[in-house]
Amino acid sequence: MTSQRTVYVSGEFVAESEAGFSIFDSALMYGDVIFETTRTFNGQPFRLRAHIERLYVGLRTLEIDCGLTADEMEAATLETIERNRPCFADGTDFQIVHNVSRGPMGLYETVFEGGVKPTVTINCWPLTWHLAALAEAYVEGVHAVIPAQRSVPARLIDPKIKNRSRIYYQISNLQAQKVDPEAWALLTDEDGFLTEGTGSNFFVVKDGGLLTPEPRNILRGVTRQAVLELAESLGLACRERNLEPYDVMTADEAFFTSTPFTIMPATRFNGHDVGAGEPGPVTRRLMKAWDMMVEVDMVAQARAYARQAAARG
Ligand SMILES: Cc1ncc(COP(=O)(O)O)c(C=O)c1O
Repeated sequence: MTSQRTVYVSGEFVAESEAGFSIFDSALMYGDVIFETTRTFNGQPFRLRAHIERLYVGLRTLEIDCGLTADEMEAATLETIERNRPCFADGTDFQIVHNVSRGPMGLYETVFEGGVKPTVTINCWPLTWHLAALAEAYVEGVHAVIPAQRSVPARLIDPKIKNRSRIYYQISNLQAQKVDPEAWALLTDEDGFLTEGTGSNFFVVKDGGLLTPEPRNILRGVTRQAVLELAESLGLACRERNLEPYDVMTADEAFFTSTPFTIMPATRFNGHDVGAGEPGPVTRRLMKAWDMMVEVDMVAQARAYARQAAARG
């Protein structure tokens, strides 16, 4: 196992400790970055093509020509994965993160030999610490808290475009964590309808069926889509509709979905128990179905990572 990971930076592979964005990059000036986070299960990337396609919708919308076709981006991603594979101990899954910006602003062109061009980075990072921190949460569930900060309306910045202009998510986290340091922020729109978490989508379970906010003003998560497909295969009714905080208060179960952790039960909401206050049967059934689909026991994996993280101090 080698320890130095390698990052794809605009056509070259550089040591992770050397990889970076210029201080003159539009990424820093405007948060002008389209990004993706994909993860592996048993070392294989999950729905990589869906992530790359979403990345390219964002790039088209922002008029960033990154110089690679989607096929070339996929090939560069697979090469990045293979170059980094020796850095990960057997059984350690990792995330693959794409960050693509317009590149340094034209005003600073003289700093850059050969002119300015978009900045494309692809890096791999072990999921050890991320999932270690969530090992107990899978069993106990997390506390969803609605912060005062609202989602930015889709007509202003479309959340379907996965971008790094995310200051309102950070404000939401800070506000929710004032209520409970462990809370997960759950955002609402201007009308008070639920939208999503600050890096996740949200579902409630009512009378055995799933309800989730409409795809209108949220990031259409790859995990959300996979959960909808799994639920259908299990014969569970699913509806996308406007949801109010009232619908969480009266739900039997609730959960968040996102690439790194996949399905996370939410057992508390604004200081109240959701349903029985523990991960419910439908959520557990979906988690089990997910484990079978990817051939990884997610809770066991998170616990193993927690032990590794503790052993490393
Ligand atoms: C705002 C937001 N919503 C939802 C998600 C979940 O998307 P996915 O399942 O594709 O990871 C993310 C992921 O980072 C996100 O940032």
